[in-house]
Order: sequence, then C-alpha cells, then structure tokens
Amino acid sequence: MSGVRKIRLAVLISGRGSNLQAILDQAASGELPAQIAAVISNRPGVAGLERARKAGVPALELDHKNFADRSDFEAALIELIDHQRPDLVILAGFMRVLTAGFTEHYRGRLLNIHPSLLPKFRGLHTHERAIAAGEIEHGASIHFVTAELDGGPVVAQARVPVLPGDDPDTLAARVLEREHRLYPLAIRWFAEGRIELDGERVRFDGKPMVEPLRLEDVAPPD
Ligand code: GRF
Repeated sequence: MSGVRKIRLAVLISGRGSNLQAILDQAASGELPAQIAAVISNRPGVAGLERARKAGVPALELDHKNFADRSDFEAALIELIDHQRPDLVILAGFMRVLTAGFTEHYRGRLLNIHPSLLPKFRGLHTHERAIAAGEIEHGASIHFVTAELDGGPVVAQARVPVLPGDDPDTLAARVLEREHRLYPLAIRWFAEGRIELDGERVRFDGKPMVEPLRLEDVAPPD
C-alpha cells in the first residue's frame, strides 16, 4: 500500500460494530490506507465502542438523549467529529436520521452502508422485506449520504442470493459477511482518490459512474 496517503476516518456507530471491526482489522493489517481517528457512538456502552478501545482507537460517546432536539445533537456531533479532522466520515450502523444541515456539512465525504440493493428497500427491516417481496437476490450498498434517507448516490454493491428457507437472520448473516468486504474496499477507493461525489453523481477514476461497482467483479465470495 506504499504511495497511498493514509486518510483519517471518523466512524459513527450505534451498536454491535461488526463493520467497524472489519475496517479496524484492515487498517491494522495495512490493507486499508486509513487511520481511525475516532469511533463515536450515539448510544453509550455499545459493543462497537469496546472494539475501538481494544484496537487502541479513541471511543467516544455522544448520547442523543442528552440533547433537547435533533439540531442541538447534530451541532455537538459536528463539533466532536471536526475536532478529529477526518478526511472521511463513515456511518457504520449509525441509527439516527440526519438532517440536511449535517449531510451538507460533510457532502462528498460521508459514506453509509445500507443492507439492501438500493434503491430497493430504503429504511428498516430490509431483510424481512426482501424475503416478503419474493426477491431472489439481495445485498448491501455503499452510498454517499445526502439529505434524502438512504437516497444518496450509490458507489458499490454486494449481492447475495435469497435461498429457499431463508429467514431474516440467515439472510442478514449472508449479507453481513459481504458487507465486511464491501465497506473497506469502498473506503480504499476513496482513500486512493478513485471515487468522488460530483453533484448528484459518483465519479470513478474521473468518469461518471453509470452503474454501482459490484463487489463480485473485484472480490468473489470465498
Ligand atoms: C449493518 O447491517 C449495516 O448494513 C446497517 O447496520 C448494520 C450494522 O451492523 N447499516 P454492525 O453494527 O456493523 O455489526
């Protein structure tokens, strides 16, 4: 990974932090040219904070319940994040809706992972809804975050089959395994300057992206 500058990441979580773990592991091994400046959770005491501490990364709590309203919380969150001077802000299971004030502040340097093949199944309970809809394929998407919930331009996707007999848990586990490959890869592309937001579109290697990149094309399942 020589020659690529390490970028500073701020990772926002609300819970388990398995995507965070994948990012921490790849940063530690040198596969991902990134330094995790801080992990910030809006929920105190969650497992992801412990993962950060174990990796020697500052684990910060900012409990949204301590704020009178969303805009007070977001103002404090912006201050906390900006104090870390991140090049890129990563939402990894961060379960708060963000207002346009926040998403505009970080426009072009804010990524989210969503467990569906966007634009299908924005919002919650995506695995359950994919099964109920009779989908034969499901997956996860990385997108730049804009004010529209789960609606920003998609960078990359990972696809998995929906198998007979799947329930939301078995399907979620299959998707999650691919998420752990997908997110570090997208972050690496950002670090290498390969992906950027240009208005409402993504550019990859300087060219407007017509279709999201597919993980299967670059990293087939093990
Ligand atoms: C993942 O399924 C991710 O797609 C969604 O929230 C979940 C977070 O899981 N946004 P974890 O906290 O990374 O384990």
